[in-house]
Amino acid sequence: MKEITLLDKTFELYLPSEKIQEAIKRVAQTINSELGKEDVVFLAVLNGSFLFAADLYRRIEFNSIISFIKLASYQGTQSVGNVKNLIGINEDLQNKTVIILEDIIDTGHTIKKIIELLAPYQPKNIKIATLLFKPGAYTGSDKIDYIGIEIPNDFIVGYGLDYEGYGRNLEDIYQIKN
Ligand code: IMP
Ligand code: MG
Repeated sequence: MKEITLLDKTFELYLPSEKIQEAIKRVAQTINSELGKEDVVFLAVLNGSFLFAADLYRRIEFNSIISFIKLASYQGTQSVGNVKNLIGINEDLQNKTVIILEDIIDTGHTIKKIIELLAPYQPKNIKIATLLFKPGAYTGSDKIDYIGIEIPNDFIVGYGLDYEGYGRNLEDIYQIKN
């Protein structure tokens, strides 16, 4: 089994690149057939989703816009993880179908916050597409419209996902080894 080391942790191969690309192809086909007639803005959530967004968007066959957002969580005076704003919404989202592109949905706290922050922009509707989903960890009530691959509650890295900032460049996805 292929293993890699990042800082102090060892990871073993979990999802080879072909599996990831198959899942992305499936998600893209579904979006093409369901939303091809809508006025769509894709919003990819940085940093983690940059590779997923690039590979998915290349498979989108209708005219649409893509933009990149980041959550501003203030540190210092405010507690870490206290998300206050979205950086990068320069697009007019009013009456548009927004498709949020996430690398992974774990507890669902992040996606819930993003949906709340998007509401004032008055999109026509909001869809969620995620490459990876941990159903065992999800505590949210928002429907996840498009899911690439469901995975157990283990920590993974690669293909945009990081451990302490490292591992995003890996083509395959690796699972932490205990
Ligand atoms: P949530 O708010 O709990 O859904 O977590 C979402 C964020 O946590 C993701 O966008 C990732 O940045 C990070 N995350 C969750 N699970 C993993 C993992 O297994 N590996 C790396 N990052 C993760
Ligand atoms: Mg992320």
